[in-house]
Amino acid sequence: MKIYLSQDAVARALGADEVAAELARHDVELIRVGSRGMTWLEPLAEVEIDGVRHAFGPVTVSDVPALLAGTLDGHGPTEEIPFFANQTRLTFQRCGVIDPLDLDAYRAHGGLTGLERALDMDGLGVVEEAKASGLRGRGGAGFPTGIKWETVAKAEADQKYIVCNADEGDSGTFADRMIMEGDPFSLIEGMAIAGVGVGATKGYVYLRSEYPDAIRVMKAAVEVARANGLLGASLLGKGPAFDMEIRVGAGAYVCGEETSLLNSLEGKRGVVRAKPPLPALEGFLGKPTVVNNVISLATIPVIFEKGAAHYANFGLGRSKGTIPLQIAGNVKYGGLYEIAFGLPLGEIVNDIAGGTRSGQPVKAVQVGGPLGAYFAPHQFDTPFGYEEFDGAGGLIGHAGLTVFDDTADMLGMARFAMEFCAVESCGKCTPCRIGAVRGVETIDRIAAGDMAAKELLTDLCETMTDGSLCALGGFTPYPVMSAMTLFPEDFAGAREAAE
Ligand code: NAI
Ligand code: SF4
Repeated sequence: MKIYLSQDAVARALGADEVAAELARHDVELIRVGSRGMTWLEPLAEVEIDGVRHAFGPVTVSDVPALLAGTLDGHGPTEEIPFFANQTRLTFQRCGVIDPLDLDAYRAHGGLTGLERALDMDGLGVVEEAKASGLRGRGGAGFPTGIKWETVAKAEADQKYIVCNADEGDSGTFADRMIMEGDPFSLIEGMAIAGVGVGATKGYVYLRSEYPDAIRVMKAAVEVARANGLLGASLLGKGPAFDMEIRVGAGAYVCGEETSLLNSLEGKRGVVRAKPPLPALEGFLGKPTVVNNVISLATIPVIFEKGAAHYANFGLGRSKGTIPLQIAGNVKYGGLYEIAFGLPLGEIVNDIAGGTRSGQPVKAVQVGGPLGAYFAPHQFDTPFGYEEFDGAGGLIGHAGLTVFDDTADMLGMARFAMEFCAVESCGKCTPCRIGAVRGVETIDRIAAGDMAAKELLTDLCETMTDGSLCALGGFTPYPVMSAMTLFPEDFAGAREAAE
């Protein structure tokens, strides 16, 4: 009997290792895989029946006898579960499917085809292919990846670097973690292709310390890649040199900002650097550096495997390809959902996520992490795309969605945003360092019934937006102002100061 069991951090937190230990006491072929992304089914066990994987979950240790006897109620073929079947899985095509450290399985499922193709091109050709795909930075800023690569490729230097930003600090996001735990070779392959494109021979993954499972899997994957010629003196024995290291961050949100990350990587304090110079020209150790998010880089192999035109065929307007939505908060069906850009927000919240778990009406959705704007149900026709969200006064960021029901206190959420900024500020610029502290105080004044403080809060937010050096101070006004504008009733009268 062949059983696939998730070893993703979420599944492990929910008891997958205990289930694995129990299964190991029986005569089964157990393969630990990444997550399929259906969080509400974790720990998810998949039993192969006539070559088709059938889903059972959440599975507990006490379910194991029935699972083995074939008497446990399941969900049928995993890939026919609507949440899964309706996705377009490109970046996440192998996540949850293969043993993350099995390079042969990676190759058998399309892996390394992209790198083989890139190695038959020259650097310029690789950059052009990335540009033609329309891929934009999935960390949140949405800058075209191919254009960033072009800047680095054209820079003259004796050494260039590929730095992967794996400091996924946005609350409610987990796409980077899932791909690193479930399909680490896709990131390694993507970094190698980037290296070929821009002429970089060394890469670093800056991985947050809060992700011990991802750190373990990525480190092991780099060893396997090296031992099998995927990394080293010559990529796959026929390309240029490329090697990489995993570097562990130390827990500051602002180290996800690229210049702060580079400082931290160099062993300095994680303080934001002024731009220009762009990291593309003067980045790690002052050398031209590609700084890309995990998902941007892990999407590169499938672009090169299937061709830029295939990838660019998906999406909406200038938002090309697919986006791994991370659905969290008060929802029935949370998890990772990869789909072409363009789906209306309401469809994601009501149909895919199934509305709230509490059964109460949806009050707000925060899109783009703690620095993202809140959206109210009357905005649910907004299509999921960079320009469309920008036009609606928000951002898609790293594509995390956190859903709130009608019990949410939006003044409390606005206060939380200011408090978060105050705690995580690197302190380099005044609008953020001082502004966030004053912001918390001002919101407390509104909570105490001082309505004149609303205008002050608006002014303060404008100053933070215009005067902050980076997105932390500059974007905190998104959640604050959207909460105050969309939910004026929560900012309307005297109440006890929020905790
Ligand atoms: P940005 O707009 O300053 O830069 C975008 C990227 O393009 C940077 O890498 C920049 O160096 C590069 N770039 C710009 N012009 C270029 C050129 N001519 N050639 C080459 N490269 C060029 O945005 P920033 O500050 O890097 O990111 C802000 C975003 O980060 C926000 O939208 C937010 O959503 C996101 N974010 C993501 C988090 C996460 O956990 N993933 C956490 C916090 C924020
Ligand atoms: Fe530092 Fe905040 Fe200024 Fe960014 S906005 S540079 S985090 S003080």
